[in-house]
Amino acid sequence: MVVAIDGPAGAGKSTVARASAEALGFTYLDSGAMYRATALAFLERGGPAADRARELDIELGRRVRVEGRDVTEAIRTPEASETASRIATDPEVRHALVDRQRELMSSGDWVAEGRDIGTVVAPDAALKVFLTASPEERARRRAAEIGVDPETVLMDQTLRDEQDRSREHSPLRAADDAVDLDTTGLDVDQVVERIVALARDRSE
Ligand code: DC
Repeated sequence: MVVAIDGPAGAGKSTVARASAEALGFTYLDSGAMYRATALAFLERGGPAADRARELDIELGRRVRVEGRDVTEAIRTPEASETASRIATDPEVRHALVDRQRELMSSGDWVAEGRDIGTVVAPDAALKVFLTASPEERARRRAAEIGVDPETVLMDQTLRDEQDRSREHSPLRAADDAVDLDTTGLDVDQVVERIVALARDRSE
């Protein structure tokens, strides 16, 4: 069974998807980490980004490794974030990474998180959740996480949201059959509880 969790940056997807996967006993897939790892390789080695997306040895888990090197922190810098959002507009990059994500999820139970899981990667997912929160709350959360001021985060976030939503290929949007979940004012446990309940309901 696949649970797809999509939504904008800072909606709490990673925390919620990881915890939901653990509660359900499913494997967690952070698709954004694949775009970030590709972006980092592109920054370090140059293009074309699609070649990096096709060939890169990416190991996902608690730590993210690229060609055996631990890049967990390196893929979260503002530069890597911005570049990830930019290369994610390239249809060839998307095609390569979507293929890899589908291959990973071809067997077993998954909670997969990203922007296009419910719309493109796994349109047959048993449960699709579109996670949102107000822009200010999303910026506050991310600022607390990475230790910079919320105003700067809000500016970067607005730019990235716009880029992710307005791109021609697989823009960020909720699938028609997604459950909208606004996490403003909710804590992680409450959101996870709701997702786990929905997933159990769909698996019956
Ligand atoms: O979820 P994240 O912030 O780690 O994602 C980094 C970037 O990758 C984000 O700006 C958009 C892109 N992305 C995407 O286009 N499709 C996905 N399924 C996941 C991420």
